[in-house]
Amino acid sequence: YGDYSQKIDYVFKVVLIGDSAVGKTQLLARFARNEFSIDSKATIGVEFQTKTLIIDQKTVKAQIWDTAGQERYRAVTSAYYRGAVGAMLVYDMTKRQSFDHMARWLEELRGHADKNIVIMLIGNKCDLGSLRAIPTEDAQEFAQRENLFFMETSALESTNVETAFFTILTEIY
Ligand code: GTP
Repeated sequence: YGDYSQKIDYVFKVVLIGDSAVGKTQLLARFARNEFSIDSKATIGVEFQTKTLIIDQKTVKAQIWDTAGQERYRAVTSAYYRGAVGAMLVYDMTKRQSFDHMARWLEELRGHADKNIVIMLIGNKCDLGSLRAIPTEDAQEFAQRENLFFMETSALESTNVETAFFTILTEIY
């Protein structure tokens, strides 16, 4: 680390999508900087962060894009998906609606992204287990039917965040 002469073997663009407030920005903050904010502001437009990691002895630079879940803050869709080789479809496991909207997000994704894109369904906020609205099996079934990887995460408690990103990047690779 700190060695900027390090050779990058691959750059992988991964996009985060899902309803507003499901935790996309905080998942990214946790993965890229090991940070978390409780009073996270709604994302306006598009932001991205990078993190370099080693997969199979290759240096992979992950470029993770985060956009607004709120329609009025969304940037041009096709530009967001261009060149993406991975996508994380995030819902809040305590909010039924955010899971019900997954089909719509998937449709938008499939309409704009490369057909070989690797997609992972993420049920975030698993630290709020007592408020769970979506049983794991329901999400698993949806993921299986749609051919997606699936994981439950908590950006707050750091649960499965690295594993989720590492899994999708390894699948891309
Ligand atoms: P938009 O930018 O509007 O699309 O929202 P977003 O999906 O990026 O949500 P964001 O990351 O801003 O998080 C929304 C709220 O949920 C914030 O108050 C976060 O602190 C909170 N949050 C995010 N992840 C978790 C989590 O894993 N557990 C809990 N308990 N809260 C979380």
